[in-house]
Amino acid sequence: MEISTKILEQTESYFQEKLDQFGTTVKGLDWNSETAQSIRFEQLTNLLKKEHENTFSLCDYGCGYGDYFGYLQEKGYHCKYTGMDLVQDSVSCARQKYGQNPDALFVQGVKLQETYDYIVESGIFNIKGTVKEEEWEKYVIGILEEFNSHAKKGFAFNCLTKYSDAEYMKDHLYYADPLFYFDYVKKFFSRNAALLHDYELYDFTIIVRK
Ligand SMILES: C[S@@+](CC[C@H](N)C(=O)[O-])C[C@H]1O[C@@H](n2cnc3c(N)ncnc32)[C@H](O)[C@@H]1O
Repeated sequence: MEISTKILEQTESYFQEKLDQFGTTVKGLDWNSETAQSIRFEQLTNLLKKEHENTFSLCDYGCGYGDYFGYLQEKGYHCKYTGMDLVQDSVSCARQKYGQNPDALFVQGVKLQETYDYIVESGIFNIKGTVKEEEWEKYVIGILEEFNSHAKKGFAFNCLTKYSDAEYMKDHLYYADPLFYFDYVKKFFSRNAALLHDYELYDFTIIVRK
């Protein structure tokens, strides 16, 4: 799948600006707080429930500063972690933070080159900017198709939810319909899927197990 150059350019400059403005902090990743970042990690980690004793490979797509690697280590998981990000400066920050660990590899890019046991993303589908809703939806589906073809055991992703309070919703953000995506993954990817929408943030997570 070819990812739209216009979308990638817009996304790259958005996150580069955040990094320039706020430095290597959660605000530089456009998150509100470390707590919110960590709650999202906790939801994604439901994908890995059965892997506590095992070593597995995982790609964190849109890894930012690689904080999910730190989270997994803290929780006692053993994985060969690959963090990928569009923004070269974010990848450099991630390397500085975690690159000394032989189990962590960071690459700049958007094209999945290998297969992994698991793929996760947190926060890459939220900033649609000026892109039309239908076009953004195609972009999201295109990336999910890539996850599906490059993940051997499963993948997990999050999106902002359309069940957000109207007064806080912003035009440049994409609020996905969780039921549409749940239905999509059930129909086209796997019968073993879970929709998690019970963790307070204006956000949902879908877990797909092969
Ligand atoms: C909201 S931040 C979250 C970073 C990290 N997942 C975390 O939770 O700490 C989203 C990150 O995804 C990256 N990103 C967005 N779209 C991407 C794409 N299509 N391919 C690769 N990286 C992408 C951005 O550069 C940014 O670093």
